[in-house]
Amino acid sequence: MVKRKLCEPLENHKGNLYFDGLSVEELAKKYDTPLYVISEKRIRENYNRLYTAVASKYKDVRIYYACKANTNLTVLKILQSEGAYLDAVSPCEVFMGLNSGFTPDRILFTGTSVRNDELKFLVDAGITVNIDSQSELDRLLKIAVPPTISVRVNPEIGDGHHDHCITAGPQTKFGLWEEDALKVYATAKKARVERFGIHMHIGSGFLGIDSYVQAVKKLLSIAKRVHDELDIVFDFIDLGGGFGVPYHPDEKELNLSEFTSKVVSRFKSKVKDYHLGKPFLHIEPGRYLVCDASILLTTVNTVKVTPHRKFLGVDAGFNTLVRPAMYGAYHQVLVANKLDRKNTETFDVVGPICESGDVLAKDRELPSVVEGDVLAILNAGAYGFSMSSQYNSRPRAAEVMIRQGKPVLVREREQFQDLLATQRTVQQ
Ligand code: LLP
Repeated sequence: MVKRKLCEPLENHKGNLYFDGLSVEELAKKYDTPLYVISEKRIRENYNRLYTAVASKYKDVRIYYACKANTNLTVLKILQSEGAYLDAVSPCEVFMGLNSGFTPDRILFTGTSVRNDELKFLVDAGITVNIDSQSELDRLLKIAVPPTISVRVNPEIGDGHHDHCITAGPQTKFGLWEEDALKVYATAKKARVERFGIHMHIGSGFLGIDSYVQAVKKLLSIAKRVHDELDIVFDFIDLGGGFGVPYHPDEKELNLSEFTSKVVSRFKSKVKDYHLGKPFLHIEPGRYLVCDASILLTTVNTVKVTPHRKFLGVDAGFNTLVRPAMYGAYHQVLVANKLDRKNTETFDVVGPICESGDVLAKDRELPSVVEGDVLAILNAGAYGFSMSSQYNSRPRAAEVMIRQGKPVLVREREQFQDLLATQRTVQQ
């Protein structure tokens, strides 16, 4: 018998996987698969752990939830009720935030390649815009002079778990380089914008914080220049998100005490040294708040052995969870009813999509699996459902939230009819 190491909210009950107190096999039976299961409790814990750690060193902190990670309305409402703010990157994310109870003053819009009608929507809704280019500011000012402007700067150092997820440094489209940022602030000031913020987001999914610490240093030096040369006082300084979570059992979680001492304490002393007043410290995590609060359940429908490989064909594919196919990302896989069994075989876990890249897990050592077994794919809460698609004309999965020990369906499984909903047929 083996004992697999499980982290909250996962539990091993006599070899069967439980998630936030409930049997995942029972959930699969009740709601069918593929199924995203979300733990309300874990989201609240993640938020409070992070908030308490940062606020212990700098009390004027605001956590902006980067909702691109998971825009389920119940997830948004949970974080809203905890006191979170919202990082939105599209008008519809703003719309969903407003629908979930975030007031406009609690939303920051950080877009790139933004259209004029989108800027108008944001102005009308009273949302602060984080400017990504001189053109965006010029076009915004033609619509109205907003009371507050923030500028996304490129601190010249990026980091992330994959090239696609590095959003600062020389190769990226995001943010403004130092001299250009100064010009944008000068334009805004001349237009009589009254309040200001400064922002960076260097990338997504880093567990070591060395690059981040360097980037914060650069951001603060830019803030000092803006302050000294343009007499601008910042209401907030936003350090972005990107804090990684361990996907692989060998990875360690973000060291929060290292984070608060190397980032938050230094932030506090630099703000003082640079005479930057009393800005709010913003951070913008997505993944950190929701990733380990959700698992994806999928059923094995085919066990197929070829002369070269053993495949477990399951009912979730890259239409359901694209991260492994898109980034080569690792997600741990557990066989829900065989937690105490030894790993005896090596499988590729593959989905129903007609592409060879439809692999959720490759070369995975697992116990012997039979058709009908339920697999749990861990850490599915961030960029799981939100990046899912209807590719191969497959309706999207359902989502269940565990609230106070009870499952609640928070997103219905799409049906065939949903795939027809926006299509118009032309008479032949
Ligand atoms: N702020 C901004 C402006 C962002 O663009 C992002 C993520 C975040 C905050 C939050 O990053 P997080 O804390 O979640 O790492 N689809 C990829 C991740 C892309 C992240 C894009 N921007 C993945 O599945 O790994």
